[in-house]
Amino acid sequence: MPASASSPPPSAIVTRLRAAGCVFAEDEARLLISAASTPADLAAMVDRRAAGQPLEHVVGWAKFCGLRIAVDPGVFVPRRRSEFLVRQTIGLAGRPAAASHSGQAGPPAVIVDLCCGSGALGAAVTAALDRAELHAADVDPAAVRCARRNVAACGGRVYEGDLYQPLPSTLRGRVGILLANVPYVPTEAVQTLPPEARLHEARRALDGGPDGLDVLRRVAAAAPRWLAPGGHLLIETSERQAPPAAEAFTRHGLAARVVSSADLNATVIIGTWPVRPAPAG
Ligand SMILES: C[S@@+](CC[C@H](N)C(=O)[O-])C[C@H]1O[C@@H](n2cnc3c(N)ncnc32)[C@H](O)[C@@H]1O
Repeated sequence: MPASASSPPPSAIVTRLRAAGCVFAEDEARLLISAASTPADLAAMVDRRAAGQPLEHVVGWAKFCGLRIAVDPGVFVPRRRSEFLVRQTIGLAGRPAAASHSGQAGPPAVIVDLCCGSGALGAAVTAALDRAELHAADVDPAAVRCARRNVAACGGRVYEGDLYQPLPSTLRGRVGILLANVPYVPTEAVQTLPPEARLHEARRALDGGPDGLDVLRRVAAAAPRWLAPGGHLLIETSERQAPPAAEAFTRHGLAARVVSSADLNATVIIGTWPVRPAPAG
């Protein structure tokens, strides 16, 4: 925002944000000042942030895996820990784009990002790959609108509906990578979440049912119908939920393993659909 005599001094913004409980008040003040286009805009943004709205909803974007991801009010803000899910996915989907020198283009990896929210995960995975065909889906129309903006650059398609229901049937048996950051907070624990999540993100983005695994179980149960032989399903969960989550994968024929990152406090279940031998004769 151009400097203006009618804007409050940065120190006053910092004081206001700090009083509202913003731990990184200086950084946030700088970001709000650079994001606002007019003094009135800045004043409104500071008001919204001081009232407890997530910073990402106030400025309209989140940084994720080095990308700027549009995030509208009410839409789940992509979490830093989910960068671990993205890294695991990229490792399985192919070589990073920067490492390719061969000039030999293989077929594009078919990637599906279920429960895509803003589309951050699919966008980040696709940005790192040589070639990918990205399909993303979410039940929330606001999330779908956001995701369409975020995946437009990579030519990804975004569908609206319950889990796999809106996907084109031509994807059945062709998906190389199915990734999902589903809601996994147990219903009882939603009330203990920080207000930024509890009050400003859609309940449906957070609540995973009695033990937090309702949506994960549904995704795992139907994955074999969509995965290509040797394809992978990757879902973020918590360390405590990992054993029953992995069991949900194996129950549906996926070979499951659990990977985690202490740095990011992140846990991911990776399931692989076996390459079945061709039927004899
Ligand atoms: C935890 S958020 C994750 C969003 C995004 N993947 C991310 O990590 O930023 C879960 C998302 O699942 C969506 N969701 C919940 N239930 C769903 C369902 N039955 N079908 C499709 N999407 C669903 C919510 O709308 C929300 O966007």
